[in-house]
Amino acid sequence: MPKRLLFVDDEAMVLNGIRRALHGMRQEWDMHFVDGGAAALEALDKDAYDAIVSDMRMPLMDGAQLLEQVKQRHPEVIRMVLSGQSSRAAILRSIAPAHQILSKPCDPQELVIRLGQAFAMRDLLSSQTLKTVVSRLRSIPSLPTLYDELMTALRRDDPSLNQIARIISKDVGMAAKILQLANSAFLGTGGRVSSLVQALSLIGTETVRTLVLSVHVFSQFDGKSQVAVSLPALWDHSIAVSGLAQRIAGSEGCAKAMVEESFTAGLLHDIGKVVLLAEMPREYHQILAVNPCDGKNLERERLGCTHAEVGAYLMSVWGLPFPLVHAVAYHHNPSETAETHFSTLTAVHAADVIATATDASPLNHDAELDLSYLERLGLSERESVWRGIYAERAGSPAAPPAAAPSPKA
Ligand SMILES: [Fe+2]
Ligand SMILES: [Fe+2]
Repeated sequence: MPKRLLFVDDEAMVLNGIRRALHGMRQEWDMHFVDGGAAALEALDKDAYDAIVSDMRMPLMDGAQLLEQVKQRHPEVIRMVLSGQSSRAAILRSIAPAHQILSKPCDPQELVIRLGQAFAMRDLLSSQTLKTVVSRLRSIPSLPTLYDELMTALRRDDPSLNQIARIISKDVGMAAKILQLANSAFLGTGGRVSSLVQALSLIGTETVRTLVLSVHVFSQFDGKSQVAVSLPALWDHSIAVSGLAQRIAGSEGCAKAMVEESFTAGLLHDIGKVVLLAEMPREYHQILAVNPCDGKNLERERLGCTHAEVGAYLMSVWGLPFPLVHAVAYHHNPSETAETHFSTLTAVHAADVIATATDASPLNHDAELDLSYLERLGLSERESVWRGIYAERAGSPAAPPAAAPSPKA
């Protein structure tokens, strides 16, 4: 079935340009065009749409205001904004309601790739409730201790990028949000930033400070809730997997970029569990309580999808680079991919299984080594080497690579 898309711009010429540029997509996309926020809301109330792409600068209701309304009234719709000549303040304001910020004039190829990736991952989720839960999310809550640590660091007169990078590289929620911002097309990165240090250098400490202290892009788990009690174990596991995935990629002679990407993918690999714990704590706790070791099958039975699929969908909607989304989507079953060479996915899959073996928390008991995958890659022999790396360094998580000097944007 074709996806239904709604394009909003007050300039008819711009809409015509988009219509012409995307003419080749008309078999896959059922595209509709309206000239303002009021007409867009009317169209969304009348028919179901999969995505909305709105201009930022429009009279009466700007793109950020429109998408905020769409988020409230139709949370399941994927929301993109075109930044154009907007001021930096307006762009920062649109970060909250928009999933992705694109540059204007709209590059049709980029839009096709970004929306295509989000739609592909969304099709993996059969549950409408979960699609809505994920698209509604503005941020992934952070651990209260790390949240406080970051606030203290940012309130200093001259916050250090290295210190901020160290804090963010320990938190699943903050890491994902920073990557979402760094991969926004308005920064001109083309959606390829997988390294947290690079992401922070691009955004700059001043913008991070504005985003955190004024726009409130991060949130924290309620420290008193039952869920918060089980979170540190999930965070420890994510940190262990990120450090080990980084070392495994290094031991296979991968380039620096892939080593850093493995660190990030390891940190984010179970982000779907964080979403489920934050958004449906009662249901997800019941799933974990019934049979923690068989959590994945129960997830599919009760939710219609796994935490890996939920995490991959969130990351694709937020525009994170494909290798990260791919590694998260298949971290339990890499043989379902067509891969024949070592990749970020290999590093994360192996690190997850190896780190889980010594983890006592029921939250993390979900991994088995995919032997047919390793055999296909010709890497069956490497398992013992990777286990050795973990045994050697257990308890001393790897630090992310040091930050470059901040451009102070
Ligand atoms: Fe997992
Ligand atoms: Fe895991």
